[in-house]
Amino acid sequence: MSEALLSQPRLITLEGGEGAGKTSAIAAIRDRLQAAGHDVVLTREPGGTPLAERIRELLLGAQDEPLAAETELLLMFASRAQHVRQIVRPALRRGAFVISDRFTDSSYAYQGAGRGLDPEWIAALERRAVGLKPGLTLLLDLDVREGRARTAGRDLWPDRIESEQDDFFERVRAGFRARAVAEPHRFRVIDAAQPPAGVGAAVEAAIGAYLRTLTDSDLA
Ligand SMILES: Nc1ncnc2c1ncn2[C@@H]1O[C@H](COP(=O)(O)OP(=O)(O)O)[C@@H](O)[C@H]1O
Ligand SMILES: [Mg+2]
Repeated sequence: MSEALLSQPRLITLEGGEGAGKTSAIAAIRDRLQAAGHDVVLTREPGGTPLAERIRELLLGAQDEPLAAETELLLMFASRAQHVRQIVRPALRRGAFVISDRFTDSSYAYQGAGRGLDPEWIAALERRAVGLKPGLTLLLDLDVREGRARTAGRDLWPDRIESEQDDFFERVRAGFRARAVAEPHRFRVIDAAQPPAGVGAAVEAAIGAYLRTLTDSDLA
């Protein structure tokens, strides 16, 4: 029997391709929530705990053999299972907001749409190994070439997934957008091609509007 997937109002995730501005946005979200008096935990995937960060190294570092798509998916969920139990659930239980730089939507986009793995399998892993979903997901949507140009300035050399070709990243982008269309109540799509101030204002507006929808029991 599969377990229920519970929506968690205080779990907010940032999704989007490389260079879309997720890491840049996350600090602004933390500041906005802290200014409103909330306890905030910032985290990221893959990773977020010492063990999960070691799995991240396996996933993103160079390997001396090809990493099978199925291995990649299971390592992503191994990392996420650990992250959820060590970091996300304890923080939510004590009433904090958790802001995660990537979460399960990235597996649907990269391992599902990008690598072609069955979304039903991903959904089963999500139910059994994760068991919760964000109340709000900000999708920073950006042209693949623009994202690549931005990360070229940031990284000395690309990691294993960043080294994929543009057609892979086009499938990933389409995968993210399809998820946003399928769950319009959870997602806010932000045009990440705007200058940083414009993206920041859009993020701020989305967070402000979302906080106004939360009830006292969501915040307890
Ligand atoms: N709106 C923007 N316009 C131009 N450059 C940006 C913008 N947002 C972020 N950048 C730059 O692009 C690079 C990638 O941003 P980052 O926040 O690390 O993206 P991500 O975490 O989504 O990969 C960084 O060098 C950052 O300074
Ligand atoms: Mg980043």
